[in-house]
Amino acid sequence: MTYTKENFNNTFKEKINTINTALDTYIPIQNEIPEIIYDSMRYSIFAGGKRLRPILMMACYEALGGHGDEIIPFACAIEMIHTYSLIHDDLPTMDNDDFRRGKPTNHKVYGEAVALLAGDALLNLAFETMITAAKKYPQIPCLDALDIIAKASGTRGMIGGQTMDLLSENKDIDINTLQYIHENKTAAMICAAVKAGAAMAQASIEEIQIVERFGYCLGMAFQIQDDILDVISTTEQLGKPIHSDIKNHKSTYVSIVGLEESKQYVEKLSKEASDALHTLTNHTLTNHILQENGHFLLSLTKYLMHRSY
Ligand code: IPE
Ligand code: IPE
Ligand code: MG
Ligand code: MG
Ligand code: MG
Repeated sequence: MTYTKENFNNTFKEKINTINTALDTYIPIQNEIPEIIYDSMRYSIFAGGKRLRPILMMACYEALGGHGDEIIPFACAIEMIHTYSLIHDDLPTMDNDDFRRGKPTNHKVYGEAVALLAGDALLNLAFETMITAAKKYPQIPCLDALDIIAKASGTRGMIGGQTMDLLSENKDIDINTLQYIHENKTAAMICAAVKAGAAMAQASIEEIQIVERFGYCLGMAFQIQDDILDVISTTEQLGKPIHSDIKNHKSTYVSIVGLEESKQYVEKLSKEASDALHTLTNHTLTNHILQENGHFLLSLTKYLMHRSY
């Protein structure tokens, strides 16, 4: 099946609901001391958010033959890691932004020290959640997913990218350095989401390679679009401040190659991501559920290319 806009939006919302319901069970409600830490973690997790990484992980898992709830703790864990990275990214010592997901940032509400701890707590809870699941489902290659996610969120992934992003403020960097930043701060986690989904579904090495290509291209397109939206969108639409990159003297695709070329690059990378998906769906032609998830991923790629928030 191909998705109409309405079908796609409904499926996207259903998937968001599944993730939100599960996240609610993983983060303790504030009936435990110290209450403020749970309150602060829940504040940022439930402030909104597209849930892109967990949705990608679940769709890839199902597109490659995985079924059952085993993927859910891993999907929630990647959202916890992502949310922690946003809380820290917004701190005064990093991007110093006051809005996120349409609300005041965590440190604006709870103060910098609690925001720092809420980020740390989400990171720890992510690994605790995955380890508990790995013990519960010994028949599933959970350790492979853990390995993929741990590497992508570390110094050779998201943290490496964020570090280089900070080091590059107020500097003229070349396109290769910017590519390193985008590959690591953003594409690494998006790639890890799809790769972990495929690994948990026990996909073949060849399938995992195709999925990796898809994740890399989609992740790069996603961050370049983020750079574009920082310039052309509005704070209301984005739910976070526009012109954050300009304020912090950051190099972006827009500042280095210009708006038009950045837009073309998003299109080119999205096309490459779709091409990888077509190769994947050709592998899984015979099965309806696998096909349906493949088509969902194709629609998602198209949707993200034109996203406005
Ligand atoms: C924002 O990620 C940070 C980037 C990597 C660009 P998202 O745009 O996925 O943020 P949420 O989760 O929807 O808030
Ligand atoms: C941050 O990139 C990526 C992370 C790892 C959090 P940005 O700093 O561009 O993300 P936004 O624009 O604040 O969401
Ligand atoms: Mg940043
Ligand atoms: Mg930022
Ligand atoms: Mg940005």
